[in-house]
Amino acid sequence: GWSFVANDTYSGYVKTADITDPTPPAKPIVKKIALTFDDGPHKKVTPQVVATLKQYDAKATFFVIGEEAERNAAILKQAASEGHQIGNHSFSHDRLSTLSIRAVIADLEKTNAVIQRITGTKPTVYRPPFGAITQQMRKSISMPPILWSLDTLDWKHRNADKTVDVITKGAKEGAIVLMHDIHQPTADALPRVLEALQAQGYTFVTIDEL
Ligand code: NI
Repeated sequence: GWSFVANDTYSGYVKTADITDPTPPAKPIVKKIALTFDDGPHKKVTPQVVATLKQYDAKATFFVIGEEAERNAAILKQAASEGHQIGNHSFSHDRLSTLSIRAVIADLEKTNAVIQRITGTKPTVYRPPFGAITQQMRKSISMPPILWSLDTLDWKHRNADKTVDVITKGAKEGAIVLMHDIHQPTADALPRVLEALQAQGYTFVTIDEL
């Protein structure tokens, strides 16, 4: 049969079979957000964070401290086995920008070795403690430094309601959210954070997936 069509360039009858649907197929809008947890693994808080993430089918990235990884190896191994990304956050949380570049590289390599021994996977990213990074570090370290775009300041206020508030108001597509899995209020905030962001259409991805 024939159909009447009208668009910007043509109006008239065309064979119905020749009409292609101009409506683009509905594409689900996927908004990605990366939750990151620093300074662990912590013997009590990290397992709660990992359990909550599992409950909401959410993936996150943990920037761990080498000596804490050694202390809480089983907890780190569990987090990695559940699909979370493990990043390097230095061996002892030193301000790397004050060390020689040789010392920085040695620190990060030592931490990578600890994480690889525990999880079987070598980290591909690092986050310098305090976000303190130099041009020399940017040039000399092969792993990309990962900072953040949304700081919850959870370490400062230690208040679950505030953490929920900062994240639900500040969340953006592609955001990297900074939290710390060493403070109980942060773990307590997480179910509400995940629920609110899910309701806003976010999916929770690792840094590598962002
Ligand atoms: Ni830190």
